[in-house]
Amino acid sequence: MRLSDCHNLDDFRTLARRRLPGPVFHYIDGAADDEITRKRNREAYNACDLVPNVLAGVETIDMSVTVLGRKLDLPFFLSPTALQRMFHRDGEAAVGAVAQENGTYFGISSLATISIEDIARTVSAPKMFQLYVHKDKGLNSALIERCKAARFDALTLTVDTIVGGRRERDLRTGFTSPVRLTIPSMLSYAFKPGWAFNYFLRTKFELANLKDHYSEGSKEPISIGNYFDTVLDRSMDWKTAEKIRADWGGEFCLKGVMSVGDARKAVDIGATAIMVSNHGGRQLDGSRAPFDQLAEIVDAVGDKIDVICDGGIMRGTHVLKALSVGAKACSGGRLYLYALAAAGQPGVSRAVRLLREEVERDMRLMGIRSVDQLSRENLRWR
Ligand code: LAC
Repeated sequence: MRLSDCHNLDDFRTLARRRLPGPVFHYIDGAADDEITRKRNREAYNACDLVPNVLAGVETIDMSVTVLGRKLDLPFFLSPTALQRMFHRDGEAAVGAVAQENGTYFGISSLATISIEDIARTVSAPKMFQLYVHKDKGLNSALIERCKAARFDALTLTVDTIVGGRRERDLRTGFTSPVRLTIPSMLSYAFKPGWAFNYFLRTKFELANLKDHYSEGSKEPISIGNYFDTVLDRSMDWKTAEKIRADWGGEFCLKGVMSVGDARKAVDIGATAIMVSNHGGRQLDGSRAPFDQLAEIVDAVGDKIDVICDGGIMRGTHVLKALSVGAKACSGGRLYLYALAAAGQPGVSRAVRLLREEVERDMRLMGIRSVDQLSRENLRWR
């Protein structure tokens, strides 16, 4: 199977599985506990159907949306995700370059493997930095100041990782960052020599923005669950979020809001966006899917704040359904991560192109020229 054989986002998953050692593949693919939420995130879009209109003169299509202070050419963007150079040597640089070529947002995680400054120097796409609040208060302020100096467009505070989700696949495979060399894991790396060559012999793997503050994750192998439990600040609350928003002073997003009450509080503290997200099902298994929860959140705060639907997006029609309910844009991690792992920048580029073409084709088939023509009138619930 080659990159040219990938015709939908699931095909990249198949290719990534062939290329990656088991522990690394399962880290991306896996989720918490029984992985019911991860599955529901995607299935939720099948709870309703689109009702198209025809004869609408759809020669030209405008897919643009305005979110977090930037006009995007696409109604979806690339959510921040961790550890990307572990999946492919191009890492965040590849994802940023593809966001740039498509005129959309992308984000780097606090657990990114390329520094804030290097990303700012090389990528002109709209950029968000995803902040985890660490116990080390100096680190939190330093990251915010670095993002200001590097002129990032938005700060996104992740609020759903107050403890580590229990990712049972990672417990079974022994996945850590950096990868820990054990006899079984070494065997899995030996069977994937292409991956092993890139990981072990090219630019040293490290968490570029954290390594000077914590050895865990860069020098000292640690599971992501343990990382959250060891170094993140469990006392984080609404006051913390409000102070971070004030320190940052720009476009500010809370990622991982699921309830109407929290969405209202996000408005109260001056956030400009929320990502309705359950962290790809990787934290609270049994949590509701973002798409299932979208309507009540849009009804409560959709006129005051950008509501972004994050999670489970694998098809253009998923994007159209979320926009019909009232999301300003959609976002996702796995939607480009399998492609990054499978084939680096050309992989991400092909994945985003396929999804963009799906959205465009589906808009024409729906008889829609611009995304603001989508509404709940276009949907019927089963
Ligand atoms: C995860 C974090 C690091 O879900 O975002 O693994």
